Amino acid sequence: MTKDTKAVAKKTKAVKVVKATKKTVVKTKKVAAKGRGRKQVVKKELEPIVLQPPRGMKDILPEDQPYWEQVRRVSEKSARDYGFSRMDVPLVEFSNLFNRSIGDGTDVVEKELYSFVTKGGDKVALRPEMTAGVARAYLQHGMNILSKPVKLFSTGPIYRYDRPQEGRQREFNQINYEAFGEQDPILDAQMIQAATRLVQSLGIKAVQVQINSIGCPVCRKEYKELLVSYLESKASKLCVDCKRRIEVSPLRILDCKEDKCSQLSAAAPQSVDHLCEECRVHFKSLLEYLDELDLPYTINPRLVRGLDYYTKTVFEVWSGSEEGRKSALGGGGRYDGLVKLLGGEATPAIGFALGVERLIIEMKRVQAKPYKGPKPKVFLAQLGELAKKKSLRLFSELEKNGILVAESFGRGSLKSQLRVANRLGVEMTLILGQKEALDGTVIIKNMVSGEQETASTAKLIDLVKRKLKTDNVVVYHEEHTNI
Ligand code: HAM
Repeated sequence: MTKDTKAVAKKTKAVKVVKATKKTVVKTKKVAAKGRGRKQVVKKELEPIVLQPPRGMKDILPEDQPYWEQVRRVSEKSARDYGFSRMDVPLVEFSNLFNRSIGDGTDVVEKELYSFVTKGGDKVALRPEMTAGVARAYLQHGMNILSKPVKLFSTGPIYRYDRPQEGRQREFNQINYEAFGEQDPILDAQMIQAATRLVQSLGIKAVQVQINSIGCPVCRKEYKELLVSYLESKASKLCVDCKRRIEVSPLRILDCKEDKCSQLSAAAPQSVDHLCEECRVHFKSLLEYLDELDLPYTINPRLVRGLDYYTKTVFEVWSGSEEGRKSALGGGGRYDGLVKLLGGEATPAIGFALGVERLIIEMKRVQAKPYKGPKPKVFLAQLGELAKKKSLRLFSELEKNGILVAESFGRGSLKSQLRVANRLGVEMTLILGQKEALDGTVIIKNMVSGEQETASTAKLIDLVKRKLKTDNVVVYHEEHTNI
């Protein structure tokens, strides 16, 4: 080592870990001090790495993926069937989009928003729902010129800083449907139908829909005054949160789960009794459309939903069985004022979102079937150095031709590879040994009859395809194996 390289090595060793316990790591940093070549030692305590995600956030492990895949497939099919185009919006938006659309006084914005200032000074937030972002994108991209209704479908993670519990996470996923530009209540009925159908297609057959109308800004203003004067007269009997809500969001008191508040709200004036003519006709027509469908719905006069943008129709989808009825599987409603509030022209709109984690909890509870992917019917075994090298290319040829192949390249012995093939229940095993690798052939072993034949590699793909189609081979089952 030259003098120079020694010096470089010394410098690169400047930061070295001198102590590593389970809880703390102490770093000793040698820094060449300015001037007389003194060395200064800086000790720095490192935070231990916690081997878990932040509270309320979960990994989705391979064993759960078949449920996720089923939800993805069913929701994509449903979106196509109902004419929705996919649109993805960012996870992060400017905070004031959520403040304005969802409302400053709502729990979602006031208590649960993950908001932060970026290094560049922008005030942004992780999306606590998708409607605001989708409406922003609808406006930004001039989608109002498209043929109405403009139907948009999105899926992805959502963030709410809520108290985690079963079915309530801080990071969760939604399937989200929005339709812009149509005010006819037939669309409300179709959205409710789409939400219900999607849940049922996942195998959750017993579903219950709750609906209500919370009116438009005109009739809601009068209704709110009535409600506030009723609530003020009972204020002493309300929970602490609801006492505060009288001022900021009196409608939310109606769906407070505290016993004393539920008792009071049961006798409170109901929005459906105070709708203006337009809202009343809209709600009546919606009910008539729903009656035409084979759809289990009930009117819940206390259903108000927690987001300020809603007008007229609001609804929630619940599991129809008592044990599954801890929290809503999904919810939505009309938001006829949102596009205008964001600076666009007046545009009626309606949408809903389903919570993926809650759907999966319910699928498991009712033992609904998860997605079952295709299983390989062919196993590729190799024996010897040359065969091992050639098998990688053969694997890729088979894969390119759409033949799903299993292998266990790391295993040397043919016996142990055949055991894996048996365990997987493949129909045939292709064996590439030293001789075959030299000859340009492959042995095809029928895993049921045990018969073997030799084929040239050049004709192998066609032969395997033909055999997979025509051979009436019974799939071999695992009981015979003890790997
Ligand atoms: P939301 O009712 O707040 O509506 O949420 C929809 C669904 O997301 C809920 O029914 C539930 O399944 C799921 N969800 C909500 N919070 C959590 C949580 N903390 N953990 C797990 N799942 C949760 C909205 O978000 C509206 N943007 C729906 C909408 C679309 N309205 C019009 N268009």
